[in-house]
Amino acid sequence: MNTLTFIELAKILISFAICAPSGHNSQPWKFQTTENQIIVMPDMSKTLKVVDGENRELFISLGCAVENMQIAATQYGYESDYEYIDGKIVVTFRQSENVTPDPLFDQIKKRHTHRGEFTGKKIPSDLIKILQSVEKEQNTDFAIFDGETNEAKLIKEKIYLGNNIQMSDTAFKNELVEWMRFNKKDIKENQNGLCYNVLGFPATPKFVGKKMVRMFLSPKAQNKTDNGVNNSASAFCLFSTAAKSEADYIAVGKTLERVLLKITELNLAYSFSNQPCEVEPLSLKLREELNLTNYPSVVIRIGYGDEPKHFAPREKIEL
Ligand SMILES: Cc1cc2nc3c(=O)[nH]c(=O)nc-3n(C[C@H](O)[C@H](O)[C@H](O)COP(=O)(O)O)c2cc1C
Repeated sequence: MNTLTFIELAKILISFAICAPSGHNSQPWKFQTTENQIIVMPDMSKTLKVVDGENRELFISLGCAVENMQIAATQYGYESDYEYIDGKIVVTFRQSENVTPDPLFDQIKKRHTHRGEFTGKKIPSDLIKILQSVEKEQNTDFAIFDGETNEAKLIKEKIYLGNNIQMSDTAFKNELVEWMRFNKKDIKENQNGLCYNVLGFPATPKFVGKKMVRMFLSPKAQNKTDNGVNNSASAFCLFSTAAKSEADYIAVGKTLERVLLKITELNLAYSFSNQPCEVEPLSLKLREELNLTNYPSVVIRIGYGDEPKHFAPREKIEL
């Protein structure tokens, strides 16, 4: 049995929760504690109104954070469950002698979103089977398609069409640029967002960086980049929910995080490419073409890639 007070434990668990991925690294979470609970709430000042108008990705990000927290709790001898009530995720913890530490714990701080192309090496089928066996939350599903399959071809087509729409939309580009961090000072001041060093760009003064990104972001340029990444990926994975509800988005975030941690454990790499889910008509088309009863929520590409030189920063959480 550990001798931590609940508030000490909560601080540790929250430090693992915030390692979760989030759209544009917006970290859209807030935390409160009670004597045996951590309450996770959306930070509505961090919504991505253009790319994520329905806050789907926001609630998925919260689900990822909750999953990290619950996995970390097992390491400290706590079992837990969660409930989504009145816009808040209430995670309740109970100390137990029967709890088995979750081996995915070791991956929480190592997980990162791969940037750039993959090596092109194929993932062996036994590793794909291991990924396919990751436990799914209720009302969520995911399917893994080899990069050469017709399903992958349909996903790649939606990424292409999504780039044509998003990169021609000034509001989308403005929102993206607002979340970009262009130099060390910019990162230090914000501790969030999409950072030049993580993305592999040189540092620039903020006004120069903004101008350059606006100039160079175009459907053609983004599709050139995505073609390279798509063609070097070994597989695509599509996550989906039974309903378009906040509760299901949280649940699929939990499933997603487990898969991402498993990918990390297997020394594989992944990157998001969520245009097919972000652009509503493309999402509906993909659903129809793949004959899904569920709704598409997240697309990732999986392959092999190098260790990152820089990790995305995280804001400090004051309780
Ligand atoms: C729901 C969701 C959707 C995302 N969509 C994209 C995407 O379309 N393209 C992309 O490059 N990254 C996407 N990301 C990844 C974030 O940019 C990334 O998690 C964040 O920058 C933090 O970096 P890390 O994952 O390496 O910790 C997404 C993340 C989440 C949780």
